[in-house]
Amino acid sequence: MDQFKRLEELNRLAEEAGGKARIERQHKAGKLTARERVHVLLDEGSFVETDKFVVHQCTDFGMEKRKIPGDGVVTGYGTIDGRLVFVFSQDFTVFGGSLSGAYAKKICKIMDLAAKVGAPVIGLNDSGGARIQEGVVSLAGYADIFLRNTLCSGVIPQISAIMGPCAGGAVYSPAITDFIFMVEGTSYMFVTGPDVIKTVTHEEVTKEELGGARTHASVSGVAHFTAPNDYECLMQIRRLISYLPSNNAEDPPVQETDDDPWRENEELDRLIPEDPEKPYDIKDLIITVVDRDSFMEVHADYAQNIVVGFARFNGRVVGIVANQPAVLAGCLDINASVKGARFVRFCDAFNIPIVTFVDVPGFLPGTEQEYGGIIRHGAKLLYAFCEATVPKITIITRKAYGGAYDVMSSKHIRGDVNLAYPTAEIAVMGPEGAVNIIFRNEIQEAEDPEATRQKLVAQYRETFANPWKAAELGYVDEVIRPSLTRVRIIQSLEMLKDKRDENPPKKHGNIPL
Ligand code: HXC
Repeated sequence: MDQFKRLEELNRLAEEAGGKARIERQHKAGKLTARERVHVLLDEGSFVETDKFVVHQCTDFGMEKRKIPGDGVVTGYGTIDGRLVFVFSQDFTVFGGSLSGAYAKKICKIMDLAAKVGAPVIGLNDSGGARIQEGVVSLAGYADIFLRNTLCSGVIPQISAIMGPCAGGAVYSPAITDFIFMVEGTSYMFVTGPDVIKTVTHEEVTKEELGGARTHASVSGVAHFTAPNDYECLMQIRRLISYLPSNNAEDPPVQETDDDPWRENEELDRLIPEDPEKPYDIKDLIITVVDRDSFMEVHADYAQNIVVGFARFNGRVVGIVANQPAVLAGCLDINASVKGARFVRFCDAFNIPIVTFVDVPGFLPGTEQEYGGIIRHGAKLLYAFCEATVPKITIITRKAYGGAYDVMSSKHIRGDVNLAYPTAEIAVMGPEGAVNIIFRNEIQEAEDPEATRQKLVAQYRETFANPWKAAELGYVDEVIRPSLTRVRIIQSLEMLKDKRDENPPKKHGNIPL
């Protein structure tokens, strides 16, 4: 009986964690505790905790007298919508959530299990970093986690939520995972904090400006999603999981829908403006054609000239990649290329078909882009689309010019179904640029150079800025009315559902990083 009492006592101590005062402090800061977060995240009653009584092994700085069962991280498994996931949740009330050797082993244990059984790992981060009292043992623990993050990459989905501090080398575990969520106002991430920055570069910056949710969602691109509070963040993670297969050997889950697969959308026939210089919002098209309310945008505030996200067609999950003519005219730049490439590679790793909407005048010109390495970064997107073997469906809505035409999942790089609207303009470059080059002499020598130039531009547009040449060559499989988009995508996905394609055997490719 005594042992039963001991069990009760240990459970109580583990659940009390850092104690009432520290829990109150956590709540006052607008944060849930580590355990509360796990319970909100998982299906009710599904959580099974592991290593609840693990304690640290440190004997320096009087630590042998300060042991709390669980040691600052709650680990285990449970379900989201009935599907298995593994979770670790760092407990800021215990030594500031700092990572000890024992704590790292707890995380590694569930990562190893997750890899063996093929289920996602969700990490809820809220930590002061390396447990200072443990020194290099803590650093070793981080490295053990980094290695597992890397080995699990492309095998099981890994999701990180930053729900408090995450600084120094500790940022690199979330950075290797597939998606990062951040909570607005209570979380921050940086490699070196404001104090160090002030000493070294004399810059003055607040924690929030340097590494808050807004900054990482819109400036650095480190964060894929933000949420106003812990609860919303955890709900968003549940939603994201609904699009993902449990591992790379599975297909994503199919969800029942009452949205008509044969739904045609007449309004789309009027979406693309007659004036090719006029912008429109590609999200209007996306939202109209996917299953009702199924679009979950990723990286919504970053590099908005490209739109990426998950959606469903007749219940089947796809990844959407779309140029956004409403921002920078839809040009590809460094950030958009990297954002798109990473998303395409995630989809390919996890058997998620890719639907690409193309309206791209080309790569963004300028010294900033060239010096920044648009050649290297643009190549990432090209490489990602080239190597992807999942079903690839491409719809050219308007401009598909130059190298950007090739890059955006063209037929030539293994697009399976390539469609175009009658408004498509597929050519080496836009009419203005083309005419200025190939008719330079005629324009210069003409009596009225401007009138001649305009006439030639109109001729070029008529002859080349259309989908007909590409259709004659079979580079697009069909030219469709925009109203048919949803129907054709669903038919294509159905036709491609058993697609198998392979790349040559190799250790790994050498993507231009
Ligand atoms: C041990 C720590 C700790 C740490 C915080 N605590 N960080 N204990 N190791 N790294 C403890 C505090 O002593 C305190 O204990 C409790 O956690 C809460 O901390 P506070 O400072 O009271 O909280 P707050 O004011 O909210 O500030 C949070 C904080 C700050 C910003 C995270 O604690 C801080 O700056 N900590 C140090 C961060 C750091 O330098 N970490 C090492 C980074 S290097 P009591 O008992 O009073 O509640 C690193 C390398 C990783 O992480 C390398 C990977 C390769």
